[in-house]
Amino acid sequence: MKPIKIGVLGLGTVGGGTVNVLKRNAAEIARRAGREIIITRASAKHLDKQRICNTQGIQLTTDPMDIINDPEIDIIVELIGGAGLVKDLVLTAIANRKHVVTANKSLIALHGNEIFAKAREQGVIVAFEAAVAGGIPIIKALREGLSGNQIQWLAGIINGTGNFILTEMRDKGRDFNDVLAEAQALGYAEADPTFDVEGIDAAHKLTILAAIAFGIPLQFDKVYTEGITQITRTDVEFAEQLGYRIKHLGIARQTSEGIELRVHPTLIPERRLIANVNGVMNAVLVKGDAVGATLYYGAGAGAEPTASSVVADIIDVVRALTSDPENRVPHLAFQADALADLPMLTSDRFSTAYYLRLTAEDKPGVLADVTRILADHTISIEAIIQKEPNKGESAIPIIMLTQITLEHEMNAAIAKIEALPTVTGKVNRIRMETLG
Ligand code: HSE
Repeated sequence: MKPIKIGVLGLGTVGGGTVNVLKRNAAEIARRAGREIIITRASAKHLDKQRICNTQGIQLTTDPMDIINDPEIDIIVELIGGAGLVKDLVLTAIANRKHVVTANKSLIALHGNEIFAKAREQGVIVAFEAAVAGGIPIIKALREGLSGNQIQWLAGIINGTGNFILTEMRDKGRDFNDVLAEAQALGYAEADPTFDVEGIDAAHKLTILAAIAFGIPLQFDKVYTEGITQITRTDVEFAEQLGYRIKHLGIARQTSEGIELRVHPTLIPERRLIANVNGVMNAVLVKGDAVGATLYYGAGAGAEPTASSVVADIIDVVRALTSDPENRVPHLAFQADALADLPMLTSDRFSTAYYLRLTAEDKPGVLADVTRILADHTISIEAIIQKEPNKGESAIPIIMLTQITLEHEMNAAIAKIEALPTVTGKVNRIRMETLG
């Protein structure tokens, strides 16, 4: 049978890793796919740049359109990233009836609904396993392995850079910016690293996971998003004293009132496996009604872990073309005409427990004022730590863990606590999940 010809757009970290894996494992991949897969063309912004891969035998160009318009190419592998110009490239590839494999989470989260509709019209495949959680086959697990379940919720560490920063801060007391610079050097971070540290990258990935889990269209604008930039070493230490770890989580939950989509730092009991996922590793916990809780763990970023998912998608496309052209798994797991328009909850209707840290004057009655405000908003306290003031200072830190409450009650209580004359500065609030 004729070999399948691949055109790779982008030869950065993931593109380089994909070339290496496809070349190194070519014989085994051909046995799995049923035919030979060869990269005949690739595009890169700068052709003379030092690369992690050997491009011998690959015709290079600076113009991705050369490849997209090449009738010899069967599959376009888009590894440029970003959602602007790349959207046009992918839509043109689809219009040219080429199958597309991409690792581009922002593209899928923002434009996936349109892209999938065009792909269905043209009868081509768009595969995106590498867009979420790097090397973990979480899309396949949700879309195929768990397809008999009603997914109740999922919670994941889905940004490797953020987890790497939090881990290094906790374990080695390293400075935030210093660890971020290392994550950039290692090729983990986004071209614009604010996407990592402000939670946008995780929100893109959560959008995709939620669509597949619940059978809803992709709705990035419905994700409540907070990053890790407000987390201090002090919070990390207090959380530890209380038996918790702070992790940056993406959480999607189906409630009786609608779907909750949120990305934020979260206190998790330290005994949970997911609380012990460190460095660039990712993990996604999925709760299905039949299977119960399942956990998927692996490298969330980096050249070859991400390439592992890209190549698996390429093999899936080749298998579908070779032996099973009609029987395709729907893009978002549910049939396109069966997506549900479920209500999406705004953040004030989320229910969660909280860690609160505030600084107050060391005077009688201060704690009583704070707890009265919480009680007025039907918020129960689970634990309190009140520290001694530092020598010569009158202000003391007070740390509280609350039971589950509605977010709008907490917002109102925090506003009143911050207005107390005895409380200085902002209340630092981190949401808390037992993930039981
Ligand atoms: N910047 C992303 C991360 C890359 O750190 O998780 C993988 O999507």
